[in-house]
Amino acid sequence: MSRLVYVLNGPNLNLLGKRQPHIYGHETLADVERDCLALARELGLEIRFHQSNREYELIDWVHEARETAAGIVMNPAAFTHTSVAILDALNTFEGTVIEVHISNVHKREEFRHHSFVSKRADGVIAGFGTQGYLLGLRRVARLLDEKKG
Ligand code: DQA
Repeated sequence: MSRLVYVLNGPNLNLLGKRQPHIYGHETLADVERDCLALARELGLEIRFHQSNREYELIDWVHEARETAAGIVMNPAAFTHTSVAILDALNTFEGTVIEVHISNVHKREEFRHHSFVSKRADGVIAGFGTQGYLLGLRRVARLLDEKKG
């Protein structure tokens, strides 16, 4: 079985480290990618790490993942709260979906409390900072290991 995981990041996350660091911290997305790659090696996962500010690109990566991947760890950023199209794409994916938010969205503005992506996600991680991505990868690996027996 494939141990490929797509790690997908939505709009404005390219500015991680510079953008509202009191909320999102000082680590950059390149730091997150490096940490994900290191952990993936340890867990025997292969990862494809992507970021886009464009909804359609995220959807295209979900479609790509459909063909080959066992899991998707996704921080859809603001699209979390708006995108039926990303939810529809994720609903076509058969593997594990983990939704990650760096901040605790439930502690923030009301409009961040609703997530379309949560209607599909197998697990949701919020408020653990960038560590959430690593927890998401660990969860996908654990589920794959359990399936293998
Ligand atoms: C976010 C939370 C979203 O509400 C926000 O639009 C983001 C980032 C997070 O990681 O905490 O861009 O997904």
